[in-house]
Amino acid sequence: MGIVIRDALVILPQKEADAAGRHTIYIDKDVIAGIDEMPEGFAEDTVIDGRDRLVIPGLVNAHTHTYMSLMRNCADDLSFMDWLFNTIDPIEGRLEPEDAYWSSLLGQMEMIRSGTTTFSDMQMHIHQTTKAARESGMRAVISRGLVGDAYNREDSRLSEALEEMEDGNDCSRLTFLLGPHAPYTCSQDYLRMVADVAKEKGLGVHIHLSESVAECENMRRDHGCTPIEYARDAGLFEVPAIAAHCVQVDENDIRILADHHVSVVTNPASNMKLGNGFAPVSEMLDAGINVCLGTDGAASNNNQNMFREMGLLALIHKGTHKSPQCVSAGEVFRAATISGARALGINSGVIEKGKKADLAILRTDVPSMMPVNNPLAALSYSADGSEVDTVIIDGQIVMQNRELKTIDEERVYYEIRRRCERLGLGNL
Ligand code: NI
Repeated sequence: MGIVIRDALVILPQKEADAAGRHTIYIDKDVIAGIDEMPEGFAEDTVIDGRDRLVIPGLVNAHTHTYMSLMRNCADDLSFMDWLFNTIDPIEGRLEPEDAYWSSLLGQMEMIRSGTTTFSDMQMHIHQTTKAARESGMRAVISRGLVGDAYNREDSRLSEALEEMEDGNDCSRLTFLLGPHAPYTCSQDYLRMVADVAKEKGLGVHIHLSESVAECENMRRDHGCTPIEYARDAGLFEVPAIAAHCVQVDENDIRILADHHVSVVTNPASNMKLGNGFAPVSEMLDAGINVCLGTDGAASNNNQNMFREMGLLALIHKGTHKSPQCVSAGEVFRAATISGARALGINSGVIEKGKKADLAILRTDVPSMMPVNNPLAALSYSADGSEVDTVIIDGQIVMQNRELKTIDEERVYYEIRRRCERLGLGNL
């Protein structure tokens, strides 16, 4: 199947700074087969008129928990530990696998509508999430959440995780990581075991680190180190590692993350809403860390819209550093695209011949984008995601003219209402 996006404004990677110009993109099957040059033997089935359109690489949501979408707006204005242990955990305990499936589909619907094409999901419900991602057409990197005390290779969650990964064998859009939850729910021995297994199996890891002040104080009191040092000493950074949050980090932590090539996912809305602060992104970028962007779950954000994260990321650091140069719109764009793709090991995040055809097409003939002037600035400072008109993932059009092609929205709303009623959630 050949798709042509004709004569659109397109953001292409450049050495110095990404730049936009008018281009025509040729998509053949799942890849970008040509830019401005029609590939030999190309047969076009679908032509998308690029007038008044801005084409960007699909956004990469590098940290979320889609099964939490039905917990949106049900635990707010609470301290982090109260939010997690007293409010969210009890609801999680009552979730049935099918709840997680519909919840994940709801989250994916929200992401597609706001231009995200890949998400990295820390999950307890792998079969349900892979089923939902298969149907939605999204690219997903899924980590089974792991918690434990001892070095125990017979650990049931770990064996389940390894088994569940078979789910992705026949779908190139699905890949997996191991997801030890956090140093406050995993002992160092347990983390060591996860690191060893990851090494043996050639897998990466995805973990929450240094999210709250309480986490860091407890770690200092109980183990005399920071969560970053704790994870490093468990060998977790000897495999490709993605650390979500990294809010409460010092200079030494930043050096450790940089030296071990750990990718950091910053989640501005979730971190601020839970009163945790925000990661020192400017300092991390200066240290050469691959900084990615994520929404975190809808229980703490409370949405899955990467445009809001981009806007926050671009603004909060300028405000706190009292420097308008701090974290530029270009740096935000990279955090939301290529850096996430790099961390997750996927061949997309940039519009280039040979890359996976994961694209979001925004309308520019809407008030918030008129005039566009600088497209990178428009993405961080003007857009809110409602401008996203068409989304292509792996060469498949999953949304066209804001109509979802792969998900029955009404059915999802029906199921979410029904399930929330059972769980005593929602206000429907
Ligand atoms: Ni999280």
